[in-house]
Amino acid sequence: MNILVVAAETAPYAKVGGLADMAGSLPRAWQAAGHSACIVLPLYGTIDVEAYGIERTEHIIAVPMGSWTEFAEIWSGTLPDSDVPVYFVKSTEYYDRPGIYGYHDGFPDNDRRFIFLSRASFELARALGFRPDVIHAHDYHTAPCMPMLAIHYRSDAFFAQTAGVFTIHNMAYQGMYDPLRAMEFCGFDATSFHVGSWFEHEGAFNCLKAGIMFADKITTVSPTYAQEIRWTTEGMGLQGALQTRGADVLGVLNGIDTDEWNPESDVHLPVPYTFDTIAKKDVVKRSLLKSFGCLDDVISHDLPLVGMVTRLTDQKGISLVCDVLEGFVSADRLRFVVLGSGDSRYEQYFRQLSTRYPHHVFVGTGYNHPLSHRIQGASDFYLMPSRFEPCGLTQMFAMRYGTIPIVRAVGGLADTVEQYDPISLTGTGIRFDRFSAQDCASALEQALKLYRREPHWSAIRRSAMSRDFGIGRTADHYISVFSWALERHR
Ligand code: ADP
Ligand code: GLC
Repeated sequence: MNILVVAAETAPYAKVGGLADMAGSLPRAWQAAGHSACIVLPLYGTIDVEAYGIERTEHIIAVPMGSWTEFAEIWSGTLPDSDVPVYFVKSTEYYDRPGIYGYHDGFPDNDRRFIFLSRASFELARALGFRPDVIHAHDYHTAPCMPMLAIHYRSDAFFAQTAGVFTIHNMAYQGMYDPLRAMEFCGFDATSFHVGSWFEHEGAFNCLKAGIMFADKITTVSPTYAQEIRWTTEGMGLQGALQTRGADVLGVLNGIDTDEWNPESDVHLPVPYTFDTIAKKDVVKRSLLKSFGCLDDVISHDLPLVGMVTRLTDQKGISLVCDVLEGFVSADRLRFVVLGSGDSRYEQYFRQLSTRYPHHVFVGTGYNHPLSHRIQGASDFYLMPSRFEPCGLTQMFAMRYGTIPIVRAVGGLADTVEQYDPISLTGTGIRFDRFSAQDCASALEQALKLYRREPHWSAIRRSAMSRDFGIGRTADHYISVFSWALERHR
């Protein structure tokens, strides 16, 4: 099958969150299974073209934008550790800036930047002679590919048999734009925009809604989130659209790259380990504490280490952490390490706490890939008290490293973390239901009771490490969704 992946992020070139991991690891797995995948990504100014061996091709594509045409160079590279081609759309005007989305409300021309990317992906595929069976668009940024396929390209022989599959990684970001601008940039007739139309939500052009309404199939990243967004306020106002398309919506659980996230071969850890040599995890923990400036006498005072690697946003339940953490650290019951960036309130809170408790609270800021691996390896527990969570990848990384997740049982967290049962000695983590400080604190209490207490400590770590979250199963599931989508066009 020929699969064209269009996304605003792809690891390792441009990453803010898990979207980038998925946009990279799925094509790698499809290619390994004998399919032909390629990725379209903007050539952001922050991408180091030399380091990744990205080169200019001879192709310059003409991209229709409204009543005029714009041009873009196509650059190309190969996704590391694979033979997946990655095609970069170069437009100095749109992408040569610091960052991917811009701060806070985003760059004011994000409508134009991402509509251009969506449209360019079709022109690029044609120019390269890559006839896609499926265009796989991710999140609101490239959702306009779905109406573009239906309105502009289905009548084009090159795309006549192409199916459109739209994957939602997060309902909270919808791409709500001025309808006059967005309809014009997309090349759609302005009169097609009206209240109740497939583009409209609350008076705005809504990219996510258009993606949902025009796609052949709509997926989201876990089965539980697929239910939550249809039937609860997690649909963020688009429950109606999702119910209209209900027969074509399903959850495909994310998976992780188990080669990259493997404690046995992780180059970022000071020593490798497996379940059989898990005592070495303590070496990783001591080395992390040392790197944060702890002296030997502090390190030898053994306490459970709770880790987080996360965007610091309300979604991630950081407010609960702020409510409960100080009680535990001031009582000398645990140490806490966080790597994150985002909301400055939360960054400041953690920094202040680490100043007050320099032997208990450690903070890394900015984007730091090696440190994210070391925190997964070093921590005893991994905290993820999310308000909502479409899937979440970091709790799966944690389990692979024998790091016990403590999660709020929503979305993909409910689908991936099984509550530990001390009677049967089964389960992989600790779950709690209500979004409350009290419930989060009692989940932490439960976790601390397991720390180094046998037979529980070995049982839960063994179960967590033996779970298979490999991307292969996810990739196969998508192939069956793609085949299903193609049935409509054959
Ligand atoms: P989300 O996509 O909602 O942010 P996920 O758990 O799906 O959450 O994916 C987050 C991804 O981003 C993971 O690969 C995680 O390791 C990575 N990540 C988050 N914050 C940082 C950071 N500050 N430095 C390095 N990696 C980070
Ligand atoms: C989103 C979600 C996260 C999910 C990721 C990859 O950013 O917030 O839960 O794991 O996308 O699908």
